[in-house]
Amino acid sequence: MSRFWSPVVQTLSPYVPGEQPRQGGLIKLNTNENPYPPSPRVQAAIAGAVERLRLYPDPRATVLREAVAARHGVAAEEVFVGNGSDEVLAHTFPALLKHEAPLLFPDITYSFYPVYCRLYGVSYQEVPLDAAMRVQIADYRRPCSAILLSNPNAPTGIALPRTAIEALLAEHPDQLVVVDEAYVDFGAESAVPLVARHDNLLVVQTLSKSRALAGLRVGFAIGQRPLIEALERVKDSFNSYPVDCLAIAGAVAAIEDDAWFEETRSRIMASRDLLVKGLTGLGFEVLPSHANFVFARHPGHSGAELFALLRERGVLVRHFQKPRIQDFLRITVGTEDECSRLITLARDLV
Ligand SMILES: Cc1ncc(COP(=O)(O)O)c(C=O)c1O
Repeated sequence: MSRFWSPVVQTLSPYVPGEQPRQGGLIKLNTNENPYPPSPRVQAAIAGAVERLRLYPDPRATVLREAVAARHGVAAEEVFVGNGSDEVLAHTFPALLKHEAPLLFPDITYSFYPVYCRLYGVSYQEVPLDAAMRVQIADYRRPCSAILLSNPNAPTGIALPRTAIEALLAEHPDQLVVVDEAYVDFGAESAVPLVARHDNLLVVQTLSKSRALAGLRVGFAIGQRPLIEALERVKDSFNSYPVDCLAIAGAVAAIEDDAWFEETRSRIMASRDLLVKGLTGLGFEVLPSHANFVFARHPGHSGAELFALLRERGVLVRHFQKPRIQDFLRITVGTEDECSRLITLARDLV
């Protein structure tokens, strides 16, 4: 605290990212990173872009928007790219979510959303997930300016089918619906095919998870042109070059390597099945996950206790000290070997 702090800074409670330990040797299952490296084409593309570092990057990141557009069957003008999907989401708040009526999002969801609300002065209401930790779209029938859902939801991993998103869009034709699909590539249905029919839909995705590029910081949004224009107006009032030329080159290479993408995400989904089976066999309750993590609790142990015991044994998972979910652990799906080691350790603990 300092007398130089602005009133808004005094009231912030910033997002706390998962630990990035400096010591090696830990099994790191706490921040939903991909356990496999990115496509080998990424390295070559980044090396080839070094000679362009002298110049500013393309402020529109045109080749990257074209690559995203080609992959998703939309026009490049319907794509916005940013420095990680966190930045894309951040711009969405002042650009599209700040209105008189509150923004709605679930009580249990990505904990960055309320942080952005406080930073940008966006009023919001949390809508409780049901007793099974599911989003019920009927619960969103209340006055609001917009709705923000993570699908699959984080940290539960539970996904809504596209039909439910379409029903939500139809019920709220005058409210924007933002769907954060950070984890969609691990078996859920994307809402991108609905963009052409719904001017109130913005879909946000990232290359951090299924493309194994968390360190490169690239995310994007897909929506009809006026929504993209709103994001561009905020971006161009903030930082003209959020995606650097190495990131543009690496991201395009990753998007174009379908074979690598399919192989690595299939392996992760297969490991998820093993992890769910192993944990369930040990008495854990595991929520049905369509993401690269599982959310699990054990009836005989608190979340804090299991978190600490795993940490002592060199396994990092994520624990949230928050009502309703304090007994759960969020466990990222690692390699086959990491998942079996976690299960072996857990067997001794429960
Ligand atoms: C639901 C959700 N949305 C967005 C993000 C941000 O991802 P990134 O900024 O790496 O694209 C995360 C990161 O963990 C997330 O869990």
